[in-house]
Amino acid sequence: MYRIQTLNKISPKGLANLDENYEVSDTMENPDAILVRSASMHEMEMPASLKAIARAGAGTNNIPVDQCAEAGIVVFNTPGANANAVKELVIAGMLLCSRKVVDGIEWAKSLKGNGDQVGKMVEKGKSSFVGPEIAGKKLGVIGLGAIGVRVANAAAALDMEVFGYDPYLSVDAAWGLSSRITHAKSLEEIYRECDYITIHVPQTPDTKGMINAEAIASMKEGVRILNFARGGLVNEADLIAGLESGKVAAYVTDFPSDALLDVKGVIPLPHLGASTPESEENCACMAALQVKDFLENGNIINS
Ligand code: MLT
Repeated sequence: MYRIQTLNKISPKGLANLDENYEVSDTMENPDAILVRSASMHEMEMPASLKAIARAGAGTNNIPVDQCAEAGIVVFNTPGANANAVKELVIAGMLLCSRKVVDGIEWAKSLKGNGDQVGKMVEKGKSSFVGPEIAGKKLGVIGLGAIGVRVANAAAALDMEVFGYDPYLSVDAAWGLSSRITHAKSLEEIYRECDYITIHVPQTPDTKGMINAEAIASMKEGVRILNFARGGLVNEADLIAGLESGKVAAYVTDFPSDALLDVKGVIPLPHLGASTPESEENCACMAALQVKDFLENGNIINS
């Protein structure tokens, strides 16, 4: 019998892949493997029995991966399994920050109590909420992994002109991923050219704070930035300065912090990128199957 501990709520459809040879529980001693979503494992003492951790999601920042490597614990993640969910929210984010949707909703709700005058007030008020269309605008996608490529293709289908950049891909290799992207040769080209910039790289020592004062200074006036990757990719103090000066028109983030919440132009979302039933099932199924294949056959397949 294999012993599997869950540290977060894992979709039952995913757990259904673990048959009668598996005991699954959220309170378990001596597990062979752990399935986790976003719970931080950094302070946790790793059980001596533990052979594998599977993250039902893409980022592994909540897992002490170096410590696991030293202890011989295999760490899986599920890149791609939630990519469609994140892609859809990035596209929504671009529309939200362009079309004054959030302000418009708040204003419309504030009309409550005005009875049959609401219709007339809406007619008068609508000219206050004018924002640009995204068609014909330039979108820079930084990072052409599972999410970045999907975002690029969807934006191209909405008639945006899409520039892609990935430090780990040559222009030729990147071309193979999507023929709808103009492959930028550098980040500077993305910064110089694009009206919207969306980041889809993992947070590492190299990428931490990459959107800083220097990067922002080289961007277009009124640029809109979207971050559905990790909060630490953006230097918040520099970003707030950019928003306050008007250089940055909007920042849509799935990783809000206290400092950002009352800054004009910020659209904070509570880490909703992967929050769809489809994505939760996909991630849970992939994570459960990775663990099963590893425990039963010794295979380490991370895709
Ligand atoms: C991920 O790492 O896959 C995303 O942050 C989504 C999530 O875990 O909820």
